[in-house]
Amino acid sequence: MEEIKVFAPATVANVACGYDVMGFAMKDIGDTMTIRKIATKKWVIENGRGCEGLPVSPKENVIGVAVEALMKAYGKSIDFGFHFYTTKNIKPGSGMGSSASSASAAVFGVNQLLGKPFKKKELVKFAMEGERAASGAAHADNVAPCLLGGFTLIRSYEPLDIIELQYPDMLYASVVHPQIEIKTSDSKKILKKDIPIKDAITQWGNVGGLISGLAKPDYDLIGRSLQDVVAEPIRSKLIPYFKDAKKAALNEGALGASISGSGPSIFALSFSRKIAEGIAIAFNNVYASNGIMANVYISQVNAQGTQIIS
Ligand code: HSE
Repeated sequence: MEEIKVFAPATVANVACGYDVMGFAMKDIGDTMTIRKIATKKWVIENGRGCEGLPVSPKENVIGVAVEALMKAYGKSIDFGFHFYTTKNIKPGSGMGSSASSASAAVFGVNQLLGKPFKKKELVKFAMEGERAASGAAHADNVAPCLLGGFTLIRSYEPLDIIELQYPDMLYASVVHPQIEIKTSDSKKILKKDIPIKDAITQWGNVGGLISGLAKPDYDLIGRSLQDVVAEPIRSKLIPYFKDAKKAALNEGALGASISGSGPSIFALSFSRKIAEGIAIAFNNVYASNGIMANVYISQVNAQGTQIIS
């Protein structure tokens, strides 16, 4: 195989209560990347539509960093290089896992072209190095669902232990991306280093509740558990009209709503497409009526994760 085209989905990390440990993949929103073997032994990164402003130097781009980590673990020398051409639908700085998608697509594609020396789950730690380069923290709650699909839990970072969670088929995400950019590195810095034990108790009760609600499924329990007392109270101050958008989603019947990843996108979960569409319209109205451009998306959960298109 000389060339491969892959799709890597957008992701919602944290899922309210699971800061840095929970995430899920979306179905129809994502980036595509064509990875091709080239005769020269180097990584060549070419920016396609939606990649404007992203660095093309492999040392500065998450693609190069993630692939470098994979090649180091591979250990064998190869007499060719790789060319990466990315088309982005996930805006960088949107909170929908844009850097995770690039890193995941790259390591997935390279692994295929090398004859699959690594299992999909093993690719997560390479893609995490891309996240470290992008945000200063090697968090896996975007790259794990991006690669594996579905809902994932990072039970432990050391050692890395990724759990693929059960979830109901009838689950829809409505996401609004107000057109402002928030860098993950910045929105990580503003969080408190310590949290009161009272908040920790609330948070881990909700993580357990969310996982149980998804598995049963118990939609009411999912809704009760979609609460974040750690990151949302601080980060929501960076997102214009966050409270209004969340309230509008709940009024439309959302099970719950919170910040997608590090923001500014906001997600809401619901159990029917009709409700999801109502939420998307309500999200859009909040921003349109306040003169802020916003994109809205509706998606079911993506069970496949990163996959070959051609
Ligand atoms: N867990 C990460 C954070 C996700 O919230 O900073 C970034 O998309």
